[in-house]
Amino acid sequence: MRDVFCEPGTESTPLTLVTHAEFAEFQNSLEPHDQAWVTANGFTANAGQLVALPGPDGKVKRVLAGISRIDDVYALASAQGALPKGDYRFDTPLEGEAASRLALGWALGTYSFDRYRTRTKSPTRLVWPEEADRALVLRELEAIKLVRDLVNLPANDLGPVALGEAARAIAVAHGAICHITAGDDLIRANFPAVYAVGKAAAETPRVVDMRWGNAHHPEITLIGKGITFDTGGLDIKTGSSMDLMKKDMGGAAHALALGQMVMDAKLKVRLRILLGIAENAIGPNANRPGDVIKTRAGMTVEIGNTDAEGRLVLADMLDAACEANPVAVIDFATLTGAARIALGPDLPALFATDALAEDILKSCAAADDPVWRMPLWQPYRRNMDSKIADINNNASNSFAGAIHAALFLQDFVKPKVEWAHFDLYAWNASARPGRPVGGEAFVLRGLFRMLSDRYGK
Ligand code: BES
Ligand code: MN
Ligand code: ZN
Repeated sequence: MRDVFCEPGTESTPLTLVTHAEFAEFQNSLEPHDQAWVTANGFTANAGQLVALPGPDGKVKRVLAGISRIDDVYALASAQGALPKGDYRFDTPLEGEAASRLALGWALGTYSFDRYRTRTKSPTRLVWPEEADRALVLRELEAIKLVRDLVNLPANDLGPVALGEAARAIAVAHGAICHITAGDDLIRANFPAVYAVGKAAAETPRVVDMRWGNAHHPEITLIGKGITFDTGGLDIKTGSSMDLMKKDMGGAAHALALGQMVMDAKLKVRLRILLGIAENAIGPNANRPGDVIKTRAGMTVEIGNTDAEGRLVLADMLDAACEANPVAVIDFATLTGAARIALGPDLPALFATDALAEDILKSCAAADDPVWRMPLWQPYRRNMDSKIADINNNASNSFAGAIHAALFLQDFVKPKVEWAHFDLYAWNASARPGRPVGGEAFVLRGLFRMLSDRYGK
């Protein structure tokens, strides 16, 4: 996707961005024959509209693009594919933030997942706008592409082994230390819940523990749910509920992608990434409803539902993270269908301690990166009381599924540690410009902004 940009000075067609609100005034500023052309083509600068103005030689001398607002990431994501082949440059004065967002959206418009087919289209290119923060745009682009590619990979090509190796490759690229504990070693290293969730699968479960940066900087730990496929286990999902379950490692992809951004920008943090990786499979060795397992924290969990596996692997990761007393822990997980019922596919649910929640909401709003805070409503915790173990992984009622899952996780977080939990979809359910159906990254731009505000230079 980076091939979509070219250097200033490249022979290119000027592209003028116009909002519908500005249109009347803008049209008056045009030469009479251009005004006539614009009118004849029905261009009124509605979002997504394009019109090419012909020069005296019949060639395109300028293109006008209708946009909803100047700083909408996706404002030009469709223009990019719809314009005649060639190179374009903005001739509208832009603020840095808007220029960066439009450049990002332009590039996202060229994304497609081509691992299993060949693609011939070469993109229409954009001359880097002078005002854009190139490093930031490329960092965001690579991170979003990483999430999309990993999520789009089917489980037969991205099982626990491959996901672990994908993490290792990112560590190597950034000079991070990467430890992977797999199979029976999980028992010795005290990750019993990760082991339990993954023990019925052909590929052994594993924990990725990646570390990067100066040990004297504040420690930030990113955690990801890495279920490479979720059948539901013996509490098997129906066919349609299982369809998209290759994406159940989307949380791990988000942790890796945000970690990659932090390392690329060399933020002043001690970064740790913990991924709980397993396939929730069915076999003679699968967990049964009613089984009781141990967690790293020593707490016992009654498995009320084998399909509530994500919170089990996260329990071990949260406990391992908190042992080191980090400043903040941020976890990402495709944890509940209930979060999607509450907020729909595009709005990640945030559960967090107050100060961190405020910073995240502020940065996500500033970055135009959507997120919605949900309550850690303590009175519901008793719905997960077990008669024989410390906690049940399934609540006794089917209300507030996302809150119950978050409250379960909270039991494994040290009270002094700042904590944020994202329950997200990691998928585009419908195609929009720059956002094809398939894997999708959420909150990365907002969270990177929050971290660079806190720990940047
Ligand atoms: N991976 C699913 C959650 C999920 C389902 C996310 C659909 C996005 C779309 C998770 O492991 C799961 O199965 N959760 C159950 C929990 C329940 C059994 C308590 C759910 O949400 O139904
Ligand atoms: Mn499940
Ligand atoms: Zn799951």
